[in-house]
Amino acid sequence: MTPHMCSVVRCLLAALILGQVQAELDFNNDLENSQKFKSIPTTVKTYENDTVQLPCTLNTPFRYVRWHRDDVALVDSRHPELPPPDRIMLWPNGSLQVANVQSSDTGDYYCEMNSDSGHVVQQHAIEVQLAPQVLIEPSDLTEQRIGAIFEVVCEAQGVPQPVITWRLNGNVIQPQSNTGNRQSLILEIKSRNQAGLIECVASNGVGEPAVANVYLHVLFSPEVSIPQPVVYTKLGSRAHLECIVEAAPAATVKWFHHGLPVALGAHSTTHESELQTNRSVDHYVNAVRHMLVVKSVRNADMGQYECRASNQISVKSGSVELTGRPMPCLFKINPGTQSSTSHVLVWQTESLLPIMEFKLKFRQIPSNNVTRQVRTNWTELTIPAQATNGLIYITTYTLHGLQPASLYEVSVLARNSFGWSDNSKIVRFATGGEVELPNYSTESELQDDFTEEDFHNEITQRSEVLSASMMFNSGSVNGRGGISAFIYSLCLINILRLIS
Ligand SMILES: *[C@@H]1O[C@H](CO)[C@@H](O)[C@H](O)[C@H]1NC(C)=O
Ligand SMILES: *[C@@H]1O[C@H](CO)[C@@H](O)[C@H](O)[C@H]1NC(C)=O
Ligand SMILES: *[C@@H]1O[C@H](CO)[C@@H](O)[C@H](O)[C@H]1NC(C)=O
Ligand SMILES: *[C@@H]1O[C@H](CO)[C@@H](O)[C@H](O)[C@H]1NC(C)=O
Ligand SMILES: *[C@@H]1O[C@H](CO)[C@@H](O)[C@H](O)[C@H]1NC(C)=O
Ligand SMILES: *[C@@H]1O[C@H](CO)[C@@H](O)[C@H](O)[C@H]1NC(C)=O
Repeated sequence: MTPHMCSVVRCLLAALILGQVQAELDFNNDLENSQKFKSIPTTVKTYENDTVQLPCTLNTPFRYVRWHRDDVALVDSRHPELPPPDRIMLWPNGSLQVANVQSSDTGDYYCEMNSDSGHVVQQHAIEVQLAPQVLIEPSDLTEQRIGAIFEVVCEAQGVPQPVITWRLNGNVIQPQSNTGNRQSLILEIKSRNQAGLIECVASNGVGEPAVANVYLHVLFSPEVSIPQPVVYTKLGSRAHLECIVEAAPAATVKWFHHGLPVALGAHSTTHESELQTNRSVDHYVNAVRHMLVVKSVRNADMGQYECRASNQISVKSGSVELTGRPMPCLFKINPGTQSSTSHVLVWQTESLLPIMEFKLKFRQIPSNNVTRQVRTNWTELTIPAQATNGLIYITTYTLHGLQPASLYEVSVLARNSFGWSDNSKIVRFATGGEVELPNYSTESELQDDFTEEDFHNEITQRSEVLSASMMFNSGSVNGRGGISAFIYSLCLINILRLIS
């Protein structure tokens, strides 16, 4: 029996057992003989509309050749009268030609040859390469709130199977799940900065990668900022209260005074101006400067204002105080040499109404080797103010009776007929002698621990311990202090121009 007949017998037996008809090829058996082929098994990677030839050549002459596509017979050299399938033809040398290939031609092709030395089969394959195509869902635009978790799904087609990558504003990000040609990206919106372009890129090396994208707009509650939380004014002046609101979607803004809506009209008006945001992605974010103008301040106009901004997401407020109080005092660095028991302090403030008095608070602070929680109480001194020609008050005051080689902190407030100013920043200084300086800056950042409580509970009158000497500035500050005071005055004059 020839090997061929042997396989036929086996197949027939198998067909009987399984009760079904099978092709008479026994590939496993016949493929073993492939060393008799001159042609070698090939996978032809090709493109749509190309023409492909699959070779089938033996080292010896052949009797007949047949081609199968998977289980389907295509051509048989013994039956030239049978028409081959569309676009397929058999060359006399045994090669199979597939013209104008379609993606449906992708598959395994078997060439079966019969010669004197037997019956052999060789396997070839055609893989029609297809450039990637990609679909994204949602597409175009998606609006999400902060806190939202949402999914973007990308589906890619192509041969070979495209690889999907994601980009958010041009940065590659990792996908969360991948099933075949579908990949999903789960995004949790944590901040408005996540807004931007989400791109899904599918590439398989065929042609250009395919890109689909969706724009992510992050919706957020209004962000209110108050450039000037306290607006200093006086009766009869024009006052501008300003409030900057960023929001998506756009917010509507209403002004309230002591909790009641501000009556707009001849006396008070509002202005809005859109702020330019140069972020290309954030174009949907609405940034507006809102201004409440009080044309001629009356006593009843003073007090707390609220700028209330609301959009679909939420309502946020900012507050502005309109006041006639003096501005907070500012200590000036005193460059003069300090004695071991006294210290010269210079501070400055500005008030539209005459300043009547200052309140100076000071206390010794522990040096490095004492825990900072242990604090002495503030000592408060009342210092009368002297009249000046302008609106700026520069005061020089010498604290006497201090401990040598010690650290102190001071703060000062000013009062006019409208009321007390806010506290100045706390300033620290050391008296002469060797002193172990803790690591703080001259101007304290510890404003927070300077609470109301400190003032109400800790103030003790110890002025009798000290002998205070005063020297008021009316344009006659000596030395280097005078120059810096002059420069400082110029700055304040500019601020005043802005206010009025
Ligand atoms: C193949 O031909 C069809 C019909 O002419 C055409 O639509 C298609 O774009 C062609 N494919 C390629 C990859 O050129
Ligand atoms: C078979 O014949 C065709 C047509 O003549 C030719 O293009 C092809 O190269 C031949 N194949 C081999 C393997 O000789
Ligand atoms: C906006 O423009 C200014 C000036 O051109 C630039 O300094 C700033 O970085 C830009 N901001 C953003 C968010 O692009
Ligand atoms: C602080 O340290 C110095 C020397 O390091 C020491 O002489 C002094 O007694 C210490 N003061 C306190 C209050 O512990
Ligand atoms: C002070 O600052 C210096 C340098 O920043 C640091 O090495 C040192 O440990 C600090 N001392 C204290 C008591 O914090
Ligand atoms: C600080 O003030 C509080 C409250 O008035 C008082 O109880 C406490 O004794 C004072 N401490 C000192 C060291 O004077």
